[in-house]
Order: sequence, then C-alpha cells, then structure tokens
Amino acid sequence: MNLDSACPQWLILQTEARLARRRAWAPYSRFQVGAAVLTVDGTVIVGCNVENASFGLTICAERVAISSAISQGFSGFTAICVSLEGSPVPCGACRQFLVEFNPQMLVLLDDVNQPEGTVPETIVLAELIPRAFHLR
Ligand code: THU
Repeated sequence: MNLDSACPQWLILQTEARLARRRAWAPYSRFQVGAAVLTVDGTVIVGCNVENASFGLTICAERVAISSAISQGFSGFTAICVSLEGSPVPCGACRQFLVEFNPQMLVLLDDVNQPEGTVPETIVLAELIPRAFHLR
C-alpha cells in the first residue's frame, strides 16, 4: 500500500499518536501506548492507555481515542495510528471496538523504536478482524 496516497495525513497521525503515548497512565505495566484517529473531515483525535489499580478497568489507547472522538460528535473514521514499542498490533478487544465504525479503516502500526518519519506498516482493519461480530 502506498501510504502517501492512501492516507496523506499519516505523518500527522504518527506525530500525534507519539505525543499522546507520552501522556499514557501506565504505572502498572509501564507499557505506554498512543493512538491518533483520523475523522472523515480530517480532524485528528488522540488517546492513550489509562491503567487502574483495579487492573481490569484499564482502557487501551485505541478505545480512549475513539471514545473521545465520539463524545466530541465525530463518528466517521478513516484511519488510526497506534504507537508503541515493538510490534504494534491492536488487541482483540480494540479490533472489535474499531470495526464497529469502519471495517475499511486503515490501521497504521507505528513502532516508536523507529525514527519519527518512518512510514509505518499499514493494514486494513478487516484483515485484523475477519468475520467480525456485527448486529446490523
Ligand atoms: N494496550 C493498549 O493501549 N492497546 C492495545 O491494543 C494493547 C494494550 C495497553 C493496555 C495496558 O495499559 C498496556 O497496554 C499493557 O497491556
């Protein structure tokens, strides 16, 4: 996939996801994750993981970003960049959460060990969650 044509805003998403990652609340795992979602009108909204002493309450960066966007009135999403250290693939719960909105969403997998400006591997969400659960 040529990311420059598929998602010309990829560098903005990467920059914003990396900045959000640094705001992660991750005192338990020490594993910081940032996400930046692109809306159909070009707005970028970020999220980071938010952990809790009651571990099961932890929220992933992707779900924070989407929930923030929804609460601000956005509901059409074309791409999301996930920034973390290592192999940045969204967890299963986040895949289901994302597919609610657009199975064709581009998922930019940004490894922060690579210098900013490195083109992130990109995959269409439907490939990450084939035969997803839908009610409609
Ligand atoms: N985490 C995310 O934010 N997104 C994912 O897709 C996978 C995991 C967070 C949750 C937790 O705070 C930390 O990474 C370690 O699991």
